[in-house]
Amino acid sequence: MKAGKIAFKRLKETDLPLMHRWLNTPHVSEWWEVSGKKLPSLETVREKYLPRIKGNDPVDCFLIAYDGMPIGMVQSCKMDDFPAEKANFNLDQSCAAIDIVIGEEDYVHRGLGSSIIREFLKEVIFKKYAVDCCIVDPYVENEIAIRAYNKAGFKYLKTVWYEKESRREHILSINRDEIELDKEKGGVKYKGLDT
Ligand SMILES: CC(C)(COP(=O)(O)OP(=O)(O)OC[C@H]1O[C@@H](n2cnc3c(N)ncnc32)[C@H](O)[C@@H]1OP(=O)(O)O)[C@@H](O)C(=O)NCCC(=O)NCCS
Repeated sequence: MKAGKIAFKRLKETDLPLMHRWLNTPHVSEWWEVSGKKLPSLETVREKYLPRIKGNDPVDCFLIAYDGMPIGMVQSCKMDDFPAEKANFNLDQSCAAIDIVIGEEDYVHRGLGSSIIREFLKEVIFKKYAVDCCIVDPYVENEIAIRAYNKAGFKYLKTVWYEKESRREHILSINRDEIELDKEKGGVKYKGLDT
């Protein structure tokens, strides 16, 4: 099958009902809370994401489109904008951080996650932010996310206790030069949904 095209578009207010649906699907709500709430209401989703959409919060949110179809969201930030977390994670480099959700059930666990992550690093993170590396902080129990991040090239750094969420998290990291090297080799290869 021909590999699909992955694109990122700024999240808009009109996308929030879709986000609300995604955040209330079982494979997402197991791992994703909004303001400490699993299964958040649309009002809670609006309260959290509208400031991000309007630029009043340092987290940038992007809709993931696969062949033009919205299937999920990825958010990013600079760790320098979150000094308490940066200190807790004991990071000394200038880093970005990302978090990804594939909300559409037909598109999850089919090998797409790692391709999207890789493309986001190449097309957004290391173009938008002047950082040396990018980290992710999945819960230690979230084996699927950890596997997807590993396949995208992230390497285990450490395990930390995240007081705010009372959870243990793995910190994984990837350096800018690993992504630029990949570009020199001819870019990201997509597996496509059926391959
Ligand atoms: C995390 C997420 C983006 C990954 O995307 P994905 O398309 O599902 O990931 P992939 O299919 O590329 O990779 C998943 C890997 O986990 C493996 N996997 C699937 N089910 C598993 C399970 N129950 N236990 C362990 N590994 C599992 C898959 O086999 C695959 O590895 P493989 O390609 O070596 O076989 C997606 O699952 C998601 O949105 N989850 C809900 C939200 C979330 O957890 N976000 C991350 C927050 S840090």
